[in-house]
This record gives sequence, C-alpha cells and structure tokens, in this order.
Amino acid sequence: MNELNKHFEPQNLSDKVALSFTKFLRFLADTFFKKRYGHRAVVLETVAAVPGMVAGMLIHLKSLRKMEDDRGWIKTLLDEAENERMHLMTFIHIAKPTWLERVIILTAQFIFIVTYALIYLISQRTAHRIVGYFEEEAVRSYTEYLHELETGKIKDQPAPEIAINYWNLPLHSTLKDVVRVIRDDEAGHRDVNHNFADVIDTRVRLKRSADIEKKEKSKNSNLKNDKELKKN
Ligand SMILES: [Fe+2]
Ligand SMILES: [Fe+2]
Repeated sequence: MNELNKHFEPQNLSDKVALSFTKFLRFLADTFFKKRYGHRAVVLETVAAVPGMVAGMLIHLKSLRKMEDDRGWIKTLLDEAENERMHLMTFIHIAKPTWLERVIILTAQFIFIVTYALIYLISQRTAHRIVGYFEEEAVRSYTEYLHELETGKIKDQPAPEIAINYWNLPLHSTLKDVVRVIRDDEAGHRDVNHNFADVIDTRVRLKRSADIEKKEKSKNSNLKNDKELKKN
C-alpha cells in the first residue's frame, strides 16, 4: 500500500465508532454530491476547517486551566484549520455554492462545532481518530477528482491565483496540480490526527501502569510494616 492509500485498521470500540461515523457521513456526501467534485470540495472544506480550530481552542483552554505545556499541539491544530480554510478559499474559485449548499454549510457548521466539541470533551482520542478517518476519505475523494480531470471527464482549467501563491506552484499550473497538493495536505492531516490518537493511547497506558506500580509498592510496604509490627 502506498503512502496515499494508508488506512488505520480500527483497534478497539472507539476506533470502530470513529470509522462508522465517518462512513455514515461519506455515504451522505456521496448521495448528495455524486460526482460534483468542485461543489463537494467547497461544502466539505467548510466542515474540514472546524476540528483543528475547536481542538486547538479546547487544548488552549485546558493548558491555561492546568498550567501545563501543550507540547506543540495547539499550533499544529491551528495550522491544520488554516490550511483547510485555504482549501476552501481555493475551491470557491472553481465552484460557487448554490443557495441549498449555503444552507447546508450554515447548518453543518453549527451542528459540527457543537458535536465535535462534545466528542472532544468526552473522548479526545476518538475525536482525533475521527479526523484521521475523515482525512482518509478526503484523500480518496481527491484521488477520484484527479482521475476525472486526468481522463478528461472533468475539464481541467488554470489554477486559481490564490492557490499558485499559497502552494508556490509554477505559474502555468492547472487544477490537476492544485488537487494533487491539496491531497498531499489531507494525507498529512490524516497522519497527524491518527498519530495524536495513538499518543493519547500511549499516555493512558503509561499512566495506568504507573498507577498499578504505585499501588503494588504501597501494598508491599504495608505488608512489610505489618510484619515488623508482628515481630515487635
Ligand atoms: Fe481540505
Ligand atoms: Fe483535511
């Protein structure tokens, strides 16, 4: 399997919930947009730019409350949100949303901010796993889009200026080049978010074994004290 088609196999119930949630949303998107990739990108990028901002804000607030270092997570997440917003700024030059899509964007933003914040507060690892799976789907969708452009089923066009400037692309670049660099971004977000979920797992595991070790130690010292008391 190459880097682009990487898939994280669900390891536990939380991963399975994250994957099922993603598949359900993918089904909705496929049903609504079918092969209208430009419109699909505009609407979905408005949603994709939410998790990084919500997660970044929640970690920022937690860092303030607990007076503890964020280990660089906030900047990574805010950069992700900014990058996703630039995907939107680019695709707005390719496809203009219809009034129905604008209504969907408004509703989806409201629902998604609340839902994602709740998921993040309940299970931070599940929230990052969900984004990891979202990004796997984004890579898949952009690969399909690219295929349509390469086979001429969708007409290629000059890359929007905003994209040329943001990704430092050659001046003669086309939409195909833009879709390629955006797909690379999505693959990067996928790896970062799956990795964040793994890091949280490791932290929980280490904390658990430290707690067990602590309990064992205190049990042993109690036994030792009891024995000494009996001797005396
Ligand atoms: Fe994106
Ligand atoms: Fe993304």
